Amino acid sequence: MASCLRRYRRRILFFCLPCILLLPIYIYVSITLCNIMTYGAPGAHSVQPTHFMATGLKLSRDLAPHPAKTFWRSKLNSGALWNIMQYVTDCQHNPILNPRLAANPPGISYKTERSRRSRNRCSPDYKINNTMPDFFTLPSQIKDFVTTMHCRDYPLVIDALDVCERAPTLLLAIKTQTANFANREAIRETWGRSGRIKSRGGWQRLVRRVFLLGKSKDLHVEEKLQLESDKYGDIIQWEFMDTFFNLSLKDVLFWDWFSRRCPHARFIFKGDDDIFVRTPALLDYLLAEEANGSFSNGSSKPNKMETFVVGDVINNAAPMRSNGTKYYIPESFYKGLYPSYPGGGGVVYSGSLAHRLLEVSQRVHLFPIDDVYLGMCLQRLGVYPIHHPAFLTFDFPKDEPQEPCANHTILMVHKRSPAEMFQLWTETSTPSPKCRNATLRVQTGVQYTRQKPVHNRFLLSQFSFLLNS
Ligand SMILES: *[C@@H]1O[C@H](CO)[C@@H](O)[C@H](O)[C@H]1NC(C)=O
Ligand SMILES: *[C@@H]1O[C@H](CO)[C@@H](O)[C@H](O)[C@H]1NC(C)=O
Ligand SMILES: *[C@@H]1O[C@H](CO)[C@@H](O)[C@H](O)[C@H]1NC(C)=O
Ligand SMILES: *[C@@H]1O[C@H](CO)[C@@H](O)[C@H](O)[C@H]1NC(C)=O
Ligand SMILES: *[C@@H]1O[C@H](CO)[C@@H](O)[C@H](O)[C@H]1NC(C)=O
Ligand SMILES: *[C@@H]1O[C@H](CO)[C@@H](O)[C@H](O)[C@H]1NC(C)=O
Ligand SMILES: *[C@@H]1O[C@H](CO)[C@@H](O)[C@H](O)[C@H]1NC(C)=O
Repeated sequence: MASCLRRYRRRILFFCLPCILLLPIYIYVSITLCNIMTYGAPGAHSVQPTHFMATGLKLSRDLAPHPAKTFWRSKLNSGALWNIMQYVTDCQHNPILNPRLAANPPGISYKTERSRRSRNRCSPDYKINNTMPDFFTLPSQIKDFVTTMHCRDYPLVIDALDVCERAPTLLLAIKTQTANFANREAIRETWGRSGRIKSRGGWQRLVRRVFLLGKSKDLHVEEKLQLESDKYGDIIQWEFMDTFFNLSLKDVLFWDWFSRRCPHARFIFKGDDDIFVRTPALLDYLLAEEANGSFSNGSSKPNKMETFVVGDVINNAAPMRSNGTKYYIPESFYKGLYPSYPGGGGVVYSGSLAHRLLEVSQRVHLFPIDDVYLGMCLQRLGVYPIHHPAFLTFDFPKDEPQEPCANHTILMVHKRSPAEMFQLWTETSTPSPKCRNATLRVQTGVQYTRQKPVHNRFLLSQFSFLLNS
């Protein structure tokens, strides 16, 4: 026996030694792989939202070729209510986890105005206070939002029936509140005129206008609103409190209204009532985009029209964490960065994208800030918003030198009073010979630095606890 072993010792050593030597390497590789699968690759960029799920984004420039963070996390970060709720919904609609549901999505998981027939008033869900440890210390607008965020079933109080008898090229949908009569008057007489509008290039296109409102507490102004609707027929009002945190609800209800009352409009401009829009120039821009073939009619490419959304795109913004600001979002409600979104002051998208937004919004829980909510819906559609420097949702950069023709290079600017709207309308409708050939603003060094302070302010707010301590 011993001689037998001795005879084979060389052979045993020859075959087994490499295996024994490789064993530590094998163990090391296995452990590293396990770690990557659980915690994500080391040094991967942190621009990914914490709770990013593989949603099949194709056009996003943010997306790494491999997941930078685990997407099959076994336990959720506890505490962020929206993330947990959305995680559950995303899983239900994940095409990999749920191929049957993804191919054949269940109809409406959220009720919108469509289901009004049921007449069941949606009541606040106070039990939700248990899911947020700091619920009772939060500002009341967040409490109000959290207890009613499951409700979307608000009936129309005033409708605009005849606005889209003929499909317009451009529908202007303006967020406003009951008391802002002066803003609406100025818009009607300047950039929001309804009818066949002559573009700067000389094309005539049909433009229509609607104002989007909720309810206010002031009964007197509510009566005046009815008179205004009788006169102009451009008022849409729903039965919900018109507050800042209810603006994404306004978005969802508008998409629903659009799909029923104005489904064939080619483009929608959605914006605030304290902005100025150079509507004739906007028409030229949109017609050029259409004619350029960027809305491909080739059979191989998807229809670009279905992904068209343009505005002042904000990337990698973080939630405001300082209590007391209008935009304050506590960590117990949302964790992570926001997806890229076009600033809500003014944004343009195609009518066909609006139909898709209505559909996808039924699988995205409402978020208190409306432009971030639009970004969340776009992300789940795999649509990346186009940045255009002529959308000035933060006004002209403060450090930019005064240009005599600056007002003729923009598509929209925030924020402008009714008096300034009249002034700008006169100035831009009849430009001086010098400014007649002014072209739209392009991305320059000056504008690039403009984005930075915004970006830093958002990030700083997140780390302000370091500065304070
Ligand atoms: C918080 O939720 C509990 C039940 O979960 C309820 O009894 C209580 O009234 C709620 N508090 C408030 C202020 O709504
Ligand atoms: C936020 O501020 C309010 C007062 O403005 C305060 O009562 C509340 O405790 C603060 N909440 C947090 C989470 O700091
Ligand atoms: C939104 O409107 C509903 C219905 O009027 C109201 O119950 C809720 O408190 C409002 N939400 C916010 C955040 O104001
Ligand atoms: C037309 O679209 C292409 C991309 O589809 C773009 O590169 C080009 O700059 C556009 N041209 C004009 C004049 O807008
Ligand atoms: C798209 O349609 C236009 C006319 O509507 C045509 O001139 C153009 O060649 C078409 N492009 C493709 C890629 O089919
Ligand atoms: C541009 O418009 C603003 C009003 O928004 C006005 O105050 C300013 O004078 C205008 N600029 C020029 C160069 O006309
Ligand atoms: C504006 O453009 C037209 C033709 O495109 C040209 O004839 C005119 O000289 C230009 N005016 C100025 C001030 O550049």
